[in-house]
Amino acid sequence: MISLLAAAGFSFGLPIEGTDIAGSYDRLYHFLVWLSIFFFVLVVGGMLVFAYKYRARPGLKTTYITHSAPLEVLFIGIPTLLLLGIFAWGYVVYHDMITPPSNAYEVRVTGKQWLWQFQYENGKSTINDLYVPMNRPVKLIMTSTDVLHGFFIPNFRVKQDVVPGMYSTIWFEAKVPGKHHLFCTEYCGTSHSGMIGRVVVLTPEQWVDWNAGKKLGDIPDARENLAQLSADISGEGIANAALLPKTPQQVGTLAMQGRNVFETKGCVACHSVDGTSKIGPSVKGLYGRRVQFVDGTHRTADDNYVRESILHPNSQIVQGYQPVMPTFQGLISESEMNALMTYVKELKE
Ligand code: CUA
Repeated sequence: MISLLAAAGFSFGLPIEGTDIAGSYDRLYHFLVWLSIFFFVLVVGGMLVFAYKYRARPGLKTTYITHSAPLEVLFIGIPTLLLLGIFAWGYVVYHDMITPPSNAYEVRVTGKQWLWQFQYENGKSTINDLYVPMNRPVKLIMTSTDVLHGFFIPNFRVKQDVVPGMYSTIWFEAKVPGKHHLFCTEYCGTSHSGMIGRVVVLTPEQWVDWNAGKKLGDIPDARENLAQLSADISGEGIANAALLPKTPQQVGTLAMQGRNVFETKGCVACHSVDGTSKIGPSVKGLYGRRVQFVDGTHRTADDNYVRESILHPNSQIVQGYQPVMPTFQGLISESEMNALMTYVKELKE
């Protein structure tokens, strides 16, 4: 019944469903709304009916009412079961939302006052427009150079804080080609409301063209693609590209840029990429490996571990090594860090 009503246009003003997750999110949302409507009618309706039926009249005296155990069990039992059911349902949807498939296409996202920068595996980088392939899982690895930002794609029902000093991730698999709105949802200063972007979902052919550097034709709003409706594309995102530091000519894939950073920043002096041990541990096969520290603790090497090792090298000393690495705080930009991270990830065994 719920999906029937939704199909009939009872969507409660929600944006289009750009992913399967958006569909399961909406089903839960609709269930909650209709459940609330059901109980609202039941309670308020019952109240009105009884208020009328048992209204004060001369000669009418209310009988003495004691408790009823079966009714009380029902009144406690039904809401408890409903709430537990809602929790279980919500957990399943949330779990799908935060667990990216391992084969996801990765894009590096940097939030800065007041724009979004995207870095792709092929070495390209774009401002405010995020280009992604359709029907393929995409994982975003996000950080900020200044303050908290919020990354929100309403059509995909995904939203995640973007935090300076660490990486957070979200993922989605877009089903509807075209342009989708992208908003910053954390008040981040003067131009917060202008920190608007687009997620441009490309068909397989367009994706090949875009990667080959070919010009893409006009890409309509996703809603037009979905329903052939005249979609209102308003509020051209303020492209604060002028605020962006002039980056040198980008060459090669993101991993190749990372290798360049690895060599020019001097990492190569102490860390090998072939597995041999120098002053510091080799970065070959580092990503995803369990790292043992001198204090007896251990940790799986992920983006945040590699980042902390570069910025706060002495906070965790790897077993068998001396605390001699200097910090690279302030010496390496977020974009360079992103490239470096992609390079390290590629050095899996
Ligand atoms: Cu960035 Cu609000």
